[in-house]
Amino acid sequence: MNRQVISGIFESRFDQNPEVIVVAPGRINIIGEHTDYNNGFVLPAAIEQAVWVAVSRNNGNEHHFYAAEYNSDFKTDKLLPVTDADHRWANYPMGALSELLVEGCETGGLNIAIGGNVPLGAGLSSSAALISAVIVAVDDLFRAGLSRPDMARIAQRAENNFVGMQCGIMDMFASLMGKQNHVLRLDCRNLEYSYSPFPDNEYRLLLLDSGVKHQLVDSEYNTRRKECEAGVQILRKSHPEVNSLRDATPEMVLEHAGKMSDKVFRRCLFVTEENNRVNAVCDALESGNMNLVGELMYQSHAGLRNLYEVCVEETNFLTDSMRGLACGARQMGGGFGGCTINLLKKSVPDKAVERVAAAYFERFGTKLRTLPVKISDGAHIL
Ligand code: GLA
Repeated sequence: MNRQVISGIFESRFDQNPEVIVVAPGRINIIGEHTDYNNGFVLPAAIEQAVWVAVSRNNGNEHHFYAAEYNSDFKTDKLLPVTDADHRWANYPMGALSELLVEGCETGGLNIAIGGNVPLGAGLSSSAALISAVIVAVDDLFRAGLSRPDMARIAQRAENNFVGMQCGIMDMFASLMGKQNHVLRLDCRNLEYSYSPFPDNEYRLLLLDSGVKHQLVDSEYNTRRKECEAGVQILRKSHPEVNSLRDATPEMVLEHAGKMSDKVFRRCLFVTEENNRVNAVCDALESGNMNLVGELMYQSHAGLRNLYEVCVEETNFLTDSMRGLACGARQMGGGFGGCTINLLKKSVPDKAVERVAAAYFERFGTKLRTLPVKISDGAHIL
C-alpha cells in the first residue's frame, strides 16, 4: 500500500479527492498478556504492517465506507452495529464515529476508503488499527484537538461499546503511540508510558503465524475477564486496597487459593505473575540481558498454556519447537491461535526456522507463515 494506491481506490469509489490519509500500524507485544484489562503492565510495539484510511466529507448525512480487502461497500445514516457477516468490518469505523460523537465531535457524512496489509485474524490488531486510523483522520479534519492517549481511550470504548469486544487499551495505545525501534512500556492503570530501545543490532523478532483462527476468541476472552473480576472480589474481602489484579501479588493469590474456584485461582495467579514478568523484562532490557528477556517470554507462554488456558496445540508446538533456537518464544495476543512471537539472535539462520516450518507442516498440514517484524512509528497523517 502507498499514498497513490489508497488515493486511487478512494477516487475511483467516491469521485473526489481524499482530504486526509492516515496510516495506523498493527502491533506486537513482547510480554504482558491479558494484563491490560486488569490495569497492569504491557510491552507492545507498533509494526510496519498497517491499516490505511482515506477520508473526505461528503456534504450529506450518510456515511459511505469501502473496504478494499473485501471489495465491500457499506452505506448508512445511522450508527448502529451491523450483524451480517459480510459487513461486520464496518462496525470498526462506525464504532469510532459513534464514540467521537459522544465526545462532541459531529462529522456529518463521511466517505472512507480502507486498505492495508495487516494480516487479518493473526492477532496483530488490525481492528484497533482501523479504529485508531479513523479517529486520527476525524481529529485532523475537524481540528478536534484530541491527545493521543484520549484517542486510545475513545478507540477502546468503540471496541467495548460498539463492537462488543471487552478488550483492554493495549492495542490502540500501541498503534497510536508506537515509536520506531522502541518497545513501549505502558501502565494501563494511569496510561503512564516510556520507551526502551530494542537492540536490533544483535537481535530480531519473528512472528510465526499458526494459521489458527478460533471462533470462540471473543466469548472466551470476555469469560477470562469475568473470572479475573471474580478473583478481585474474593481478594478484596481481606485486602480492601485491591481494586484490580494490578493491586494483587502472586503471594496474595496463593494465600486465597482455598477460597477461589480452581479456574479463578489459576487466572489470578497468571495475571499477577505476568505483571511481574513485564517489569522483569523491562529491567533485563535495560541491562542488556536478552537471554533473561527470552526466558521470561517462555515463562509467559507456560502461564498462558497452563494457568490462563488460552493456547492451542499449534502454538504450543511452535513455542516448544523454538526452544534452543530462539532466546524466547510465546503465543501473542488474545489467544486460541494467531501468531507466536520469537526473539532470535540475528546469527540464527533462516534455514533453522525453515526446519520448524517443515515439522509444522508435517504435523498439522498447514504451511507456516513467517513474518519478520520491523518496529515502526505509531499512527500518522500522510
Ligand atoms: C487482545 C486484546 C488486548 C489484550 C490482548 C491480550 O489483543 O485486544 O486488549 O487484552 O488480547 O493481552
